[in-house]
Formats: sequence, structure tokens, C-alpha cells
Amino acid sequence: MKKVNESVIEELLSQMTLEEKIGLIHGNGIFRSGGVERLGIPSLKMSDGPMGVRREFEDNRWFLACKTDDYVSYLPSNSAIAATWNKDLAYTSGQVLGSEARGRGKDVILAPGINIKRSPLCGRNFEYMSEDPKLIEELASFMIQGIQENDVAACVKHFAVNNQETDRLAVDTDLEDRALFEIYLPGFKAAIKNGESYSIMGAYNKFRGAQCCENSYLLGTILREEWEYDGTIISDWGGVHDTKAAANSPLDIEMDVKPNFDEYNMANPLLEAVHRNEISEAEIDKKVRNILRLMLRLKMIGEESEQRESGTYNMISHQQEILKVARESIILLKNEEDRLPLKKNIKKLAVIGQNANILHAAGGGSAEVKALYEISPLLGIRMELGGNTEVTYRPGYYVSYQKVFDIIGYQETSTDVMAERAKRKQVWLELEKEGKEKRKAEEKRLREEAVLLARETEDVILVVGLDHHQDMEGRDRKRYELPYAQEKLIEEVLDANPNTILVVCAGSPVSMQKFSNKAKTIVWSYYNGMQGGKALADVLFGIVNPSGKLPESMPKELNDCPAHKFGEFGTKGSVYYNEGIMVGYRYYDTENITPEFCFGHGLSYTNFTYKNLTVRANKGKGAFLSFSIRNTGKTAGAETIQVYVSDPVCSVKRPIHELKGFTKVFLQPGEEKELMMELKPSAFTYYCTESKKFVLEGGEFIIEVGSSSRDIRLSKMVRIE
Ligand code: BGC
Repeated sequence: MKKVNESVIEELLSQMTLEEKIGLIHGNGIFRSGGVERLGIPSLKMSDGPMGVRREFEDNRWFLACKTDDYVSYLPSNSAIAATWNKDLAYTSGQVLGSEARGRGKDVILAPGINIKRSPLCGRNFEYMSEDPKLIEELASFMIQGIQENDVAACVKHFAVNNQETDRLAVDTDLEDRALFEIYLPGFKAAIKNGESYSIMGAYNKFRGAQCCENSYLLGTILREEWEYDGTIISDWGGVHDTKAAANSPLDIEMDVKPNFDEYNMANPLLEAVHRNEISEAEIDKKVRNILRLMLRLKMIGEESEQRESGTYNMISHQQEILKVARESIILLKNEEDRLPLKKNIKKLAVIGQNANILHAAGGGSAEVKALYEISPLLGIRMELGGNTEVTYRPGYYVSYQKVFDIIGYQETSTDVMAERAKRKQVWLELEKEGKEKRKAEEKRLREEAVLLARETEDVILVVGLDHHQDMEGRDRKRYELPYAQEKLIEEVLDANPNTILVVCAGSPVSMQKFSNKAKTIVWSYYNGMQGGKALADVLFGIVNPSGKLPESMPKELNDCPAHKFGEFGTKGSVYYNEGIMVGYRYYDTENITPEFCFGHGLSYTNFTYKNLTVRANKGKGAFLSFSIRNTGKTAGAETIQVYVSDPVCSVKRPIHELKGFTKVFLQPGEEKELMMELKPSAFTYYCTESKKFVLEGGEFIIEVGSSSRDIRLSKMVRIE
């Protein structure tokens, strides 16, 4: 962590009154802490979120400020960034986000979100990266470094084991230690140790009986003691419940959504508790030190303050970086008969499905973005093809008009949108009034007109998926299946035109059993930022060769998912993770349960061959790998090579695959590269619950190199002592 001149901190602290100290450690505006003007200590300005800097709120209440100068660049979601498997792009995404945050005058950007995707149904999955700790460790660290280059702090969230939205403020989470240390904490540890995140956000839920934001084990034993963290711990908004518990825990700043700032737990109630001698002022001093250290790191105070980065927002260069990320995040799940890429000179194209025409930026909860613009798939396709192709769009499925408005309606200043809103609301009200049958009839009408179009047109792109009425904060999804009767639409469109290109846009896996065999081509896009539609069109028409890979497994059925099969998910009151370390592909691969699409999967328009794996064990240093990869097709392209380790003989059960390294290479047609990778001893360890540490049990390990967790191309046994 960046060192600062600690004597400045002590000097300032010695001049502060108790009241001034307490003013620093709780929210004094909806998105800022208090400052001490007399001593030149500013307040700390914070903003969501992971996909772009959130629009302005009024300072002292949870009301939109309705401004015209808070439009920003809308970045691909963390899921999309993870799908690139590209550390450089995680870094540049961070640079863009940090620059925009600083450009908007912020000190802390409340990102990235890195909770493990334990179930496809978690409402906030789209904000998170992966089911795998290694992928998160690498990408989050790079993203944080990129953010903080701009003298703005990342605030990695939500610490910890915050993997469902149901009962999110109170649910008490528990799991075995091995799962805690092998699966749920490594991402955070890397964010702190490698990414050097200047701040971290406590989660809403409880962990083993105590609120995460007041949790002396998580925040004290693990974060402060084991990881030696001297950064700033910020509560989630409304995550603090008890003055004493919070004051005596290592939490530094209490934030909330309520306007009664003086009544926050760590405001007047704390002052009174100190006066009653129930809490010592020394506890408050510790918090103030951490906050002042953050301000020094950010050059908000101290000698370096003249050199603080100013940031900038809505730059064309930001939009260009965002396009690169968006392009690399698109995943080609299936491409039978090489239906893709499509030719650009087609005369007629049918685009079907509301998700081709819906804008997503403004939805989802705190990750919402007031985007400068967002290119929808339909717009991206039209931009790509130009005027010589007749593009016909049909919505195909029925989304409540109110819902459509919710999604597009953030531009509260635009009269066009206001007029559209009124019009749609009228239609919606009429449909609602006339009841379910009328709505069903509308659903049928939309489907039939779409199917007719699909039958008459040779080239059809069907864009389905979820929107932010399913992928959203505060609520988990109820069903694994697609909403809005889309399965029926897909089935009928595929019957009408078996060559239809199916595009699924969503933030979390959906059931594809009903159509995955029938569809010849399936493309996956997460919420992909302002350039999402352009990136998609680039892939569909072969301007870009797809190279995204799944950062999570897509199970066939919800009940295949271990959180649902063995564990509890979405329960109120408490939740226990019975599946332990067997999360995602660790479970599917070990128990040989075939998912719809496996972890790490993603096709290309070219082919890669892998050869010549050599593995050399190096006593006390782990192992060195070398292998070659060649692009054997006719198109330039990129491949992400994944390295999995397994320990076939071990005193505890281990998954047959654990991702321990990955690298992405770009190859021209015919080009071959030799690659080298190092696996540190930690790549071979497991967490031993008896000795309470990671141990390496010497013996034979299998090292597998592949294109996905289920497409292993090379493997070797190695003895590690
Ligand atoms: C969310 C956080 C967010 C905060 C501030 C909370 O409800 O859980 O992720 O940063 O609100 O908007």
C-alpha cells in the first residue's frame, strides 16, 4: 500500500475536537462524509458504481438532482469485463472508470463488485465477475490499479459472503472455513494485497451472527490483522445497526440512505456513548487516522495536493476503450455450420426481440448509469449494415409498457421521452385494465408477427434475454427460465427459420435447455456498456473475431447448481452454504454433471491447436510450464488458455479442476507462439480446517491446459514436494 507521511495524520488528529472527529466518520450527505473546514479537511465524496459514475443526487436527501451535466460513459458490467479474461482490459476499464470518477469530482468510486456468483438467481450477479476466485483475483486487482491511477479510491465490495439479495439487510450467512478461505475471500485478499484498494465496503448481511459492517472477525481478525490492511472500511448504505458494535469494530465510516445524518449510529449516539465512557475516544482516533491516510493517498490534503489528477469524463478515448472491452466480452457459445459471421451485403435482415431495442444502462439499482449514449443491438446492426440492407424489427415478446419505460426513462430532461412515456403509459393502463387475457392476446399477436417475418426472411437475428427487472439489486430472480414467454417465441422462430442467429443478452445464466439443441448459433452478451450494440454487430458481421469466454458455468437446470441442490439459496433469516467449496465448475466437473455451457467456454471464427506441454517442478518454487499454441484457421483471433490443477490423491476431497492461471494470446493465421507460465506453490495448496492455514500436501498433481474447463488439450503429471 502507498505509504504516506503519518506525522501529518497525527498532527491533524491532535488538533481535532471529539465532535470534529465524529463528523468525519459518518455520512453527512447522501454520498459524502463530513469534513473539518477549520483544518482544511474536505469531506470525502463517493459515488456508485461499477459500470460508470452514477448520476448526481441531492446532497442531503435521496432525490435525483436532475442535472444535465452528469451524463457519463457507460462501461461494460463486471461480468462482461470478466468475460474478456483479459487483464489489460480490466486495467483499462479501471483507468476509464477512475478518470470519469475524478472528472466528476469524486474521491471514492464504489467499485468493483466481486462477490462470488453462487447461484444464477442472485439479482446482482451482473455486477459481479465470476464463480471462480482466481479469475476474480487477477481481474479485480488490475481494475483497481487502473482506477487508482487517477487519485481516486476504489471501494471493492461487498465484504463478505454477500451472495444473495433476499433478506439482504439481515440474512445470517454461514459456511465452512475451507469454502470461506478457498472460494469467498481470495478475491478480496488480492484486491487488498495486489490491487491495493484504498477502501473496501462492508456487506449488508450478517456473517456468523454479526453484521458484516460491524464484524470483528471479518473486519478485524482477517482484514486488519491477517491482511494488515490500513485502508478505509466504509459501510454499505444502511449496513450499520448498532453504535457500540460499529464503534468498537474496525469500520471507519458509516453511510446510510437516510437524511438524518446526526442520528446515524456513529454520529450523536456515538458522541453520547463516549461521554458516558462506554466507548473510548481511542477507537474513534483509529478510524480518523484511516480516513486521513486515505485523503493523503488521494492527495486531497498534504504536500502533494497540487499534483492531484483531475480526471475527465465522456472522452472519445474512453468510448474507444469501452468498445475494445465490449468487443472482447462477447461469447460465441455455439456456431454450427459456421452460420456466423454473417455477410455484410445481405439485402434483407429480420431483427426480432425486445432486447434488440431496449436500453439497459439506467436499470439495476445502484449500478445504474445515466449514459451519454447507449447503442442498442438494433442500432449497432443498422449502423454496421447501412442503407443497402432492409432491416425489419419486430419486438416478438411482450414486456409491460411500464417496464419498458422504466428502462429507458432516466432521461428525465428529454421531452421526447416524456411524450413517449405518456403514450406508453396510456397503452399500458388500458392493457392492465383489460386484464390478463388482453395481455396474453397482445403477447400472441407480437409473437405471430415475428414468426411470420422469420419465415419470410432468410437472415434472422433473434435477441432475447433478461433486463434489469430480473437482473437487479434488492431482489433475486424467481425463475431460471427466460421471462416474458420468450421460450415459446424462440421455439416458434426456430421452427419458422432454423438458421436464426440467437443472441442472449443478460447478466446471469438462464435456462437454455428448451432451445440450445435446436439453435444452430448462440451468442452471449452481458450488459455491455454504451458500445454494446456496436460490439455485438462487429462480432455478428465478422469485423471482430469473438474471443470472450464464460466466467461462470451455465447449468442445464437450476437444480444442478450445488447451491440449490445441497445448499440453501434465497432463504430468509439465515443461509448455510452446504455445498462448501463445490461451487460452479468445481462441482460440475468433479461430479461429471454436464452443464449447458461450461466455465471457460467460448468459440472463435478460427481454430487453435495446443502442443508440447512441458512441466518442470522446482523445489520449493512450484512448477514451470511451457507449451505452444497455433492459429490453424484463416482468421486472426485470440484464445484464452486456461491452466487447471488437480490433486488426485489427497487427504481431503478436492475438485478435479481448479483454475490456477490463464493467459490470452492474439495470433495471426498460421502464427504459433510458445508460452511460459509459472505456478507458485500456493497453486497446489488447500485450506486445512484443523491447522487453520493453507497446506501443500506433497505428491503427484495433474496439470491441465485447455480452452475451457471441459476442453482440456494437454495434460501432464508433476511431483511437487
Ligand atoms: C449497495 C451498494 C451501493 C450503495 C450506495 C447499496 O444499496 O448495496 O453496492 O454502493 O447502496 O448506493
